Amino acid sequence: MVKAMVVRETGGPEVFSWEDIEIADPGAGEALIKHSAIGLNYIDVYHRNGEFPVPSYPAVVGIEGAGVVEAVGPGVNDVAVGDRVAYTAGIGSYAEKRLIAADRLVKIPEGISDVDAAGIISKGMTAESMIRRCYRVKEGDTVLIHAAAGGMGLIMSQWCKHLGARVIGTVSTEKKAEMAREAGCDDVILYSKEDFVARVKELTNGELCDVVYDSVGATTFLPSIQCVKRRGTLVNFGTSSGLVPDLDMSLPYRAGSIYVTRASVIDYTVTREEVVESANAVWDVIKAGGLTVNVNQTYSLKDAAKAHADLEARKTTGSTVLIP
Ligand SMILES: NC(=O)c1ccc[n+]([C@@H]2O[C@H](COP(=O)([O-])OP(=O)(O)OC[C@H]3O[C@@H](n4cnc5c(N)ncnc54)[C@H](OP(=O)(O)O)[C@@H]3O)[C@@H](O)[C@H]2O)c1
Repeated sequence: MVKAMVVRETGGPEVFSWEDIEIADPGAGEALIKHSAIGLNYIDVYHRNGEFPVPSYPAVVGIEGAGVVEAVGPGVNDVAVGDRVAYTAGIGSYAEKRLIAADRLVKIPEGISDVDAAGIISKGMTAESMIRRCYRVKEGDTVLIHAAAGGMGLIMSQWCKHLGARVIGTVSTEKKAEMAREAGCDDVILYSKEDFVARVKELTNGELCDVVYDSVGATTFLPSIQCVKRRGTLVNFGTSSGLVPDLDMSLPYRAGSIYVTRASVIDYTVTREEVVESANAVWDVIKAGGLTVNVNQTYSLKDAAKAHADLEARKTTGSTVLIP
């Protein structure tokens, strides 16, 4: 038996309960991990509230963690007992221990703590997918990043700056604006007060952006189309403010034949090779000094409800980690 935050129905943060759960021995291709740190992600909110259905109840949400391999099943060659590992994978991380497909695990390099690994691995691999493969950010690009002081936002701002882009970020408060600037944003727009489309036009002298990264969704998606230059790209990869409306395909046409995608890290980290390459790119940019992990909040796993409430109330910045 191990302790876990269990969800038995969809609902608000109050649906979490701290319970004992059974864990089987690892089967073929599986590893048993003892978590030392668990990353909080906005998708955990969707799994809790039912916006993204979970396969069955009772359920343990959470898609990111770090810890030590305690046992492996037959046929596991990628990791061994005692390895310090991190992962992003299907739900099940809000627990002291979990079983996981071993091919999702990556070793944590020396010099990176378990807490930092849990705060970066999922969001970092998402950032890698979005800024190196979905659209390849290059030196001289102008990039707009919404919610630039959030978990994804601080990582993407730093990484895009490291690649030589001019980075414009949007945030809701002055305090977040400061953090976004520290993360490399050349300009920050308070989209809670200012019309961000007008400001982007002004800041770029009407040139607009090569790429817009939109994790906010409902309130930012359609106006973001007007921030993209001819044949540029709009990447929607999140819906923190709600689902995006249906897209009238005349809009990307009228905006200058722009490319619009709704992207998921899942589709960029399908094979073992993709998982390892994406994670290695994250470790490499940290080692190169291009990315600092900002775990700005930690909560006990037992307080996951409070962590969710704070994330949904826009009170968190950077990454949040739950400690089992
Ligand atoms: N597609 C993928 O593969 C993938 C992978 C990872 C994450 N994501 C998505 O990326 C998004 C960001 O994830 P995250 O974990 O890094 O969260 P986060 O950005 O740290 O938190 C959400 C932020 O969105 C902004 N926001 C704007 N309107 C909001 C509203 N109505 N309610 C709540 N927040 C609002 C807030 O920043 P301001 O106060 O500055 O507005 C808030 O801090 C999520 O939608 C997540 O699902 C997608």
